[in-house]
Amino acid sequence: MDSLDDFIDNLQEQIFEETRQAFGEKGFQRWRNPRFAGIMTNPDAHGRVTGSCGDTMEIFLKFENECVKEGSYMTDGCGSSSISGSFAVELILGKSVDELADITGEDVLNKIGRLPDEDKHCASLAALTIQDALTNYMNSGKPLEQR
Ligand code: FES
Repeated sequence: MDSLDDFIDNLQEQIFEETRQAFGEKGFQRWRNPRFAGIMTNPDAHGRVTGSCGDTMEIFLKFENECVKEGSYMTDGCGSSSISGSFAVELILGKSVDELADITGEDVLNKIGRLPDEDKHCASLAALTIQDALTNYMNSGKPLEQR
């Protein structure tokens, strides 16, 4: 039994080390503690985009005085997409509608610090999902003060 526990401990340590190397310490900590993950009930804005990789990201936003007051994300994708969603929400908290329109995958990537080259599109997926949420918000047809 001890050897099985040791095996599992070693395996976990190996996975942690590989993840730390891939994402850096900041990304690794976020992978372990994905802040802002979850579905928001009654959001003011909701975006949902499926990337070319087949993974789907969702972003939920609440606004106050036309600035992002709360945000959350969901994804069925890889660790990089979860990290990207988490940092993307952190990046846009407090931002105005106009500022949201300018958010790019590069901005999300800069916020994360680093992603493996093959996963950089995950940051773009997060940015696209923000843009989708923003578009839906702008097209909701309600007067601004009722949104
Ligand atoms: Fe598709 Fe990460 S979002 S591989």
